[in-house]
Amino acid sequence: MRHLMSPLDFTVEELDKLFDLANDIENNMEKYSKKCEGKKLATCFYEPSTRTRLSFEAAMLNLGGSVIGFSDAGSSSASKGESVSDTIRVISCFADICAMRHHKEGAPMVAAEKSSIPVINAGDGGHQHPTQTLTDLLTIRSLKGRLGNFTIGLCGDLKFGRTVHSLINALIRYPNIHFIFISPQELRVPDYITEMLKEQNIPYEEVIRLEDIMPRLDFLYMTRVQRERFFNEEDYVRLKDFYILNKEKMALAKKDMLVLHPLPRVNEISVEVDDDPRAAYFKQVQYGVYVRMALILTLLGMENL
Ligand code: CP
Repeated sequence: MRHLMSPLDFTVEELDKLFDLANDIENNMEKYSKKCEGKKLATCFYEPSTRTRLSFEAAMLNLGGSVIGFSDAGSSSASKGESVSDTIRVISCFADICAMRHHKEGAPMVAAEKSSIPVINAGDGGHQHPTQTLTDLLTIRSLKGRLGNFTIGLCGDLKFGRTVHSLINALIRYPNIHFIFISPQELRVPDYITEMLKEQNIPYEEVIRLEDIMPRLDFLYMTRVQRERFFNEEDYVRLKDFYILNKEKMALAKKDMLVLHPLPRVNEISVEVDDDPRAAYFKQVQYGVYVRMALILTLLGMENL
């Protein structure tokens, strides 16, 4: 039995197979519509979500399976003090696979240790968000035809943004990737990440101004300032609108640069950018369903059936 806690749980070769399967699903939805008949997915979300939970649910329904779960810790027995370890033992009696989001870093890992069904980390605190990373990688590969040989700017809250941490971890396994981290001083990417990049001789730059580096980017990965992870409201208010991507800034970028964002967006991308053909963040959401379908099949050992 296999779980997914980090994008690094899959080798690069395994990820290639997963993405091939996701692209086949994209082009042949009907072929997969009964693959999971009789199977159940449990979505155990202790933290709010729109995309991740609903795309997992859509993925299982697209595969012909069914879904149970909770979307709020307050409506589960966590509110009575039940531990994650006990909850997953119970969920294992009801479902075949579980996607779990939790505000505590490592909680899905604790669940996986006690589980008798595959557990997928659907986001744990400020730590990792592996299925968002799978979504990001599939989007890049599908829209550009390659993973590697590009310059990517990651902009916004690089301190608390778990999607950023997961994506950097995953991208360093591909050749010739140059990272440009764009953030205010207070929201810099954590030291453990820059140390890792230095150790592996992977080129990176840290800058504050987005305008200066726009012309060099192949991808711009925008992120929201994470209000829920700030210790005080004053700091959040001061930093929340530090970056706003608008038409003027887009005019500085390459004609084929792509803008990604894990969403939800607050103010960091002006809605006027949505009509720009380089805005790929809603396509990214659609790729999230295909890759989660491929992941469910793979973790259930049904990818070749
Ligand atoms: N990208 C993402 O994790 O969105 P949700 O918080 O809506 O799931």
